[in-house]
Amino acid sequence: PKQAIVLVAAGSGSRLGMGVPKAQVRIGDATILEHALRACLASRIDAHVCVVLPPGDDTLRAVVDHSGGPSVTVVEGGVTRQASVRAGLSTLPSTVRYVLVHDAARALTPPEVFRRVLQTLMDGAEAVTPGVAVADTIKSVSDGWVAATPARAGLRAIQTPQGFTLQLLRRVHSETSDADITDDAMLVESLGVPVRVVEGHPEAFKVTTPLDLMLAEALVRRARE
Ligand code: CTP
Ligand code: MG
Repeated sequence: PKQAIVLVAAGSGSRLGMGVPKAQVRIGDATILEHALRACLASRIDAHVCVVLPPGDDTLRAVVDHSGGPSVTVVEGGVTRQASVRAGLSTLPSTVRYVLVHDAARALTPPEVFRRVLQTLMDGAEAVTPGVAVADTIKSVSDGWVAATPARAGLRAIQTPQGFTLQLLRRVHSETSDADITDDAMLVESLGVPVRVVEGHPEAFKVTTPLDLMLAEALVRRARE
């Protein structure tokens, strides 16, 4: 395939606090990793899927072996998200044109978000991210004092999958490394390459805290009814 999805699932889930890697945590009948894999496959994008797992995690490796399908491979991740993405990228053949980088923690991401991002790449953008309008007023704060209030209408909460040409993403990952990098679009921005924003989806939220997990459980329960 000319497309690839790097599904990063190598995080520890410290904020979720369940004592196991986040990708092992169940939402209803399946683990976060299984839900995330299903979401990737449900997009029906003809893609090579590379799942990035915590080193030595045989439990998650077995999950991929059972629910992954033929074009799914596994690689061990790193200490930071960026290192995990880089590990995934290193496995992709150079025949891949477009790569989508997706957080497994966004386990319930609807297929339309994957398709929208890929379509925007195919229409010519080099870098694409989904985003949603924010409900809260966001202030930047310094030492406990408000520093600024950016106009809410211009703000977006950024989601994944983020899409890139493989060539560009490989280049930015080889040229930039910084502990404060929280997504791949930031790397591209730092090189001055424009990043297109498309509409995300509320259900593409990231399972980060126990409250997020409750919401995810409610959504899965609703889907089963
Ligand atoms: N991730 C990864 N490798 C890392 C860190 C994060 O593959 N070293 C992945 C996570 O598995 C997750 C995504 O990046 O799917 C977003 O990260 P985050 O929500 O922060 O997950 P964790 O790092 O696992 O959670 P926490 O920060 O609470 O420990
Ligand atoms: Mg993290």
